[in-house]
Amino acid sequence: MSTPVTVTVTGAAGQIGYALLFRIASGQLLGSDVPVRLRLLEITPALQAAEGTAMELNDGAFPLLASIDITDDLKTAFDGANVALLVGARPRTAGMERGDLLAANGGIFGPQGKAINEHAASDIKVLVVGNPANTNALIAQHSAPDVPANRFTAMTRLDHNRAISQLAAKLSVPVTAIEHLTIWGNHSATQYPDLYNTVVNGRSAAEQVDEEWLTGTFIPEVAQRGAAIIKARGASSAASAASAAIDHVYDWVNGTDWTSAAVVSDGSYGVPAGLISSFPVRSADGEWEIIQGVPVNDFSRGKIDASVAELAAERDAVRELGLI
Ligand code: NAD
Ligand code: LMR
Repeated sequence: MSTPVTVTVTGAAGQIGYALLFRIASGQLLGSDVPVRLRLLEITPALQAAEGTAMELNDGAFPLLASIDITDDLKTAFDGANVALLVGARPRTAGMERGDLLAANGGIFGPQGKAINEHAASDIKVLVVGNPANTNALIAQHSAPDVPANRFTAMTRLDHNRAISQLAAKLSVPVTAIEHLTIWGNHSATQYPDLYNTVVNGRSAAEQVDEEWLTGTFIPEVAQRGAAIIKARGASSAASAASAAIDHVYDWVNGTDWTSAAVVSDGSYGVPAGLISSFPVRSADGEWEIIQGVPVNDFSRGKIDASVAELAAERDAVRELGLI
């Protein structure tokens, strides 16, 4: 067995944390032969709840779980971290303006980025799940100038998985028949799930569905699925979000030919360099790479531009607040 990998999870006592930690402990994040040390970061009032989750983790007697530390201290949480899953965030509450939300999250992701810069291992990989995920990742990345920018990512894998599932149901095929699907842009209602480059059983997905379903049903239902879950469950998606976080990190570490992830733009596809935007990506040797040469038709161009404009506006807002 290899030496344990240190995995830090913020917001560990929350509902995503509860679904995520047991899957990490069972080896699904990194591999079935990779032991893990868990570091759970919580705010002080939630430490007791995190202790309860840790008791349950111990009760699982997971062979790969080397240790669990629970803390409200950033240095302790990120010291030597190889993987950081930034899940805890400030949710929008009644009366809160967008600027207030960004400022409140800047107060979380700025210091966490700084702590990662100062204390994490040199191979640190960061996935931001807490919303607004892309811009929270941007804030953390700017607060960690010594860490290569491409180690900071935000999660659009849940959107990717949702899109695959909805398309598979529409075409009555297994999810495994769907290839080369891409989520572009922001993890928000402006995201663009692209079926023009998606292939199902060797044929274009867009050619197998009618345009009315693609534009009037598929795109809005994928983009608003998070809100639909909140309405149905009375709480935001948790197990599916945890599952997508597992998929994202597993593929980052172990490699994949094609998925969607929000990564720092290098200017590809006209997305301004520096924005953390979702792209078609592959992973090899522990590095994401934006897949080049994907055709973008006029319809897709308009959708991508709209989502990227929203990301640029969020970036400008946090810049004005002095957060980046
Ligand atoms: P939750 O409210 O159940 O849990 C959040 C936890 O974070 C709480 O235990 C809270 O104490 C903790 N926390 C708050 N501030 C913290 C800080 N500064 N440091 C450490 N911990 C802190 O929420 P949840 O359902 O687990 O969701 C977490 C986040 O994930 C939310 O922002 C949610 O919107 C987001 N989310 C993202 C996606 C995605 O696809 N990117 C999907 C679902 C949910
Ligand atoms: C989701 O996509 O399920 C979440 O981002 C929704 C939310 O607002 O927490």
